[in-house]
Amino acid sequence: MTTKKTFENIKKLLNKHNQSHLLAFWEQLNSAQRQNLLAQIGQLDFSKIDDWVVYFVKKSSSSALPADFAPASSYGPIPADPDQRRKYARARELSKELISAGKVAAFVVAGGQGTRLGFDGPKGNFPISPVKNKTLFQIFAEIVAAVSEKYLTVCPWYIMTSSLNHIETREIFRSNSYYGLDEENVFIFQQGTLPNFGFDGKILLADKDTIACSPDGHGGSLKALFQSGALEDMKRRGVEFLSYWQVDNPLINIFDPLFIGLHALDAAEMSSKALRKIKPKEEVGNFCLVDGKVTVIEYSDLPDGLAHKRNPDGSLVFGLGSIGIHIINRSFVEKLNAEDFTLPLHRAVKKISHIDQQGKLVEPAEPNGIKLESFVFDALPLASKSIILQTLRSEEFSPVKNAAGVNSAETARQMMVARAADWLESAGVAVPRKDDGSVDCLIEIAPSFALKKDDIKAKLSRIPEIKPKSRFYLT
Ligand code: UTP
Repeated sequence: MTTKKTFENIKKLLNKHNQSHLLAFWEQLNSAQRQNLLAQIGQLDFSKIDDWVVYFVKKSSSSALPADFAPASSYGPIPADPDQRRKYARARELSKELISAGKVAAFVVAGGQGTRLGFDGPKGNFPISPVKNKTLFQIFAEIVAAVSEKYLTVCPWYIMTSSLNHIETREIFRSNSYYGLDEENVFIFQQGTLPNFGFDGKILLADKDTIACSPDGHGGSLKALFQSGALEDMKRRGVEFLSYWQVDNPLINIFDPLFIGLHALDAAEMSSKALRKIKPKEEVGNFCLVDGKVTVIEYSDLPDGLAHKRNPDGSLVFGLGSIGIHIINRSFVEKLNAEDFTLPLHRAVKKISHIDQQGKLVEPAEPNGIKLESFVFDALPLASKSIILQTLRSEEFSPVKNAAGVNSAETARQMMVARAADWLESAGVAVPRKDDGSVDCLIEIAPSFALKKDDIKAKLSRIPEIKPKSRFYLT
């Protein structure tokens, strides 16, 4: 029961922050609804709301560009000289030890809304594999299982969902018997939310007793790991490193020995994989150095002149793009959460369904408000040390973002087939190709068969024949 005094205090608080309209329908609510609304109000961070309204809702400026920054340096996909060759070999050895000792866990962020893809349900349940139509979750689960088997260990898998898809995600895992993994080693937890605002700075109501909220961005993962008990679970298991990726990338190499090993050898706290950008204004964040710290500057914030600047060899000066793949130390996340850390917020102008002052549902045709979120890469400058490893797009990155066109399911399937064809050809298998060089069949390789190119040769007992236009599944 809410005492009169508590209620009066809440009213005062809301008044002070210009949000008293949240109680506009109070008299129409029953007692359960009132409790529900008060609980949500209790979750709001009133120490920050006024600043959010001033800096993100009412002001449309993008984040300020640092006064001085330079391109970040990185490890190349292949070693640059004999010294580096030795270091890469040591890194691979070290990560074998770390993975075998159960010190590396998988961590996928899957709490997004997936609006561009327009798929009904959690994006991880999107069927993507070219022959077997496996879902993203199934592919990842098979990688986790294959790595656990290869290294005779248990690789725990942490999955971050949001209020939009938590229950459904759990149900998908349950009804698929955790894709053969032990339920005990799959930790599904929810990220936090942030309130949605109208352009006037007022928090929107989704219903008379419900505040309109949305997931707090993939940056919310660093708090959610702590608040959900996932960090505690890692500590109990002796997990020290999290291999972080985004749910929409079916080409992810979750346990990359080189990446994990270089990160550990260099005693980094949070590291990243990068791609060489294909064009100056490619829509990926740019890895830069600000005050000696690795920092991602969004493509929209990088001035045109700098985006187009080239090195003498013709490569882009700011050529390293961020692709949402990181190694994050458990101790780093613990350190952040030991204090009240905050990541910068980013604003997005969106169409937000809500109820109006009369309690009528409004489903806007045009953007009508602001959603706020934080980005995980904004934690990079907080790390004492951070390395970047370049990787190849064709090997590791094909995000399923859009329903059609670039970065769609179609392009991802093509890239999955192209990678499988390349792996097979490297082992001497003839792959049918069309005149334009593209693969003329569908190929899929199960993670249990091969996790990387070099696995193929060792595993093939005979060279298979693949017919043009056929469907070929290697398991
Ligand atoms: P995106 O930025 O692509 O957003 O997320 P999205 O919500 O999936 O898709 P759109 O923009 O609505 O079309 C990149 C990754 O971050 C995760 C997503 O699930 C995806 O793996 N993410 C994003 C979260 O886990 N939580 C969030 O709040 C936002």
